[in-house]
Amino acid sequence: MYAPKRVVTNDELAQTLETSDEWIRTRTGIERRHVAGAGESTAQMAIEAARSALRVADADPRAIDLIIVGTSTPNHIFPSTACQVQNALGAIRAGAFDLNAACSSFVYALVMGHQAIASGEHRLVLVIGADTLTRIVDWQDRATCVLFGDGAGAVLLRATEGPAGTLATLLGSDGSGGDLLIVPAGGSAMPASKETVEQGLHYLRMDGQEVYRFATSTLAQATEEVARRAGLKPEQFDLIIPHQANLRIIATAAKRLKLPLERFVINLQEYGNTSAASVPIALCEAIEAGRISPGQNIVLVGFGAGLTWAAAALKWSISPAEAISPAYRVWWRWLLYRWASIRSRLRRATRHFTVSLIRLANRPSRR
Ligand code: ACO
Repeated sequence: MYAPKRVVTNDELAQTLETSDEWIRTRTGIERRHVAGAGESTAQMAIEAARSALRVADADPRAIDLIIVGTSTPNHIFPSTACQVQNALGAIRAGAFDLNAACSSFVYALVMGHQAIASGEHRLVLVIGADTLTRIVDWQDRATCVLFGDGAGAVLLRATEGPAGTLATLLGSDGSGGDLLIVPAGGSAMPASKETVEQGLHYLRMDGQEVYRFATSTLAQATEEVARRAGLKPEQFDLIIPHQANLRIIATAAKRLKLPLERFVINLQEYGNTSAASVPIALCEAIEAGRISPGQNIVLVGFGAGLTWAAAALKWSISPAEAISPAYRVWWRWLLYRWASIRSRLRRATRHFTVSLIRLANRPSRR
C-alpha cells in the first residue's frame, strides 16, 4: 500500500472552510486524510503499492500475466495507468488495463482478476486500487472536500490448488443513480473548456444524502448476498473489509447484519475516503495488524458512483510470516526496476531513431 506523506487534519481544513473538526468527526468519523503532493499521482502511487505487493509475495515482475488498475482518476484518459505500472515494473509479459467502477473499482478488479485466473488463461494477476480524488474535488465545497483522501493498495493473485481463495463474488450496478455522484465535464459529453472550468464542472458533485441512503442498504445487502453465494451466513465471516466512506454507513450496515462493529476493518479516521484504494489499504493494514490469519473467512465489499457495488468472499490462506522476501531477492527486484527504466528509455529512443530514419529516407531529394 502507499499513502502520501502529506497529512491534512480536520482542523487544517477548518482554517479555510466553514467547517469544524467536531462536524467532520461526528458526521463521518474522519479525522485526517493523506493528500498527494507534487510528484505524486495515481500512477506513481499504484507503482509504489505494486512494488510492495511484489516484495511481500516475493514475486518476479516478469512473471505477471495481467495488471488491472481500478481507478477513476487515472493519470491520463490514455495511456492507461495500468500500462504505466507495467512499464515501471518491467512486467514484460503482462497485459494491462484500467477499470473504472468509481469507489468499487478495486473489488470489481479483484473479481475480474479472479475470473482471469479461473479461466485458466492467467496464473499471476496484479490487482491495484489507486485514486487521487483530491485532484477532482472542489476545495471550496465543504460538503465534499472534507470526505476524500489519496492512496493506493495492491494485491497479487496466484493460481493455486486447494480449499483457500475466492469463495464467491458479486458485481452490481444501477445507472439510474448516475447523477448522484458525477464529474460533469471532461468526458466526451462535455469536453473540458474555459466555460466548464469557470463553472467548476470538472469537479466531483455529489448528492450526499442520496448516496448515504444507497450506501447503507447496499453495504449490508451485498455482504449478505455474497455470503449466501458462498454458502455461509454473515456471522460466519471473521472480518468484513468495507469501502471506507463514512463510519455511520459502516455502523448502520453492521447493525443491519447483526454483527459487532469490531468485525469490520475501519481506518477512515486516518485516510478518509480514498475511493478505489480504500479496501486494499484496509486489507493491508488488517494483515499488518495481525487481524487476518489462515483459514479465516473474509468479505471485501465496495460501493460507489455509477452506481456500482461489488463484493468478494475469500478464505484466507497466507500467513504474513511466510511471505517475507529474503534480502537478496529485494535487491534483485530493485535491479529489475532499474533495468525496466533503462529498457523503457532504450525502447523510446529506438522508436524515435527509427522514425527519424524513415523521415530522412522519405524526404524528397533536392536537385
Ligand atoms: N462542515 C460543516 N457543515 C457542513 C459540512 C461541513 N463539512 N458539509 C455540509 N454541512 C452542512 C450542510 O450545508 C447542511 O447545512 P444546512 O442544514 O444549513 O443546509 C448540514 O451540514 C447538514 O448537511 P447534510 O448533507 O444533511 O449532512 P449529512 O448528515 O447528510 O452528512 C455527508 C453529509 C457526510 C456527506 C453524508 O451525507 C454522507 O456521508 N454521504 C455519503 C457520501 C459518500 O459516501 N460518498 C462517497 C461514495 S463512494 C464514491 O464512489 C466516491
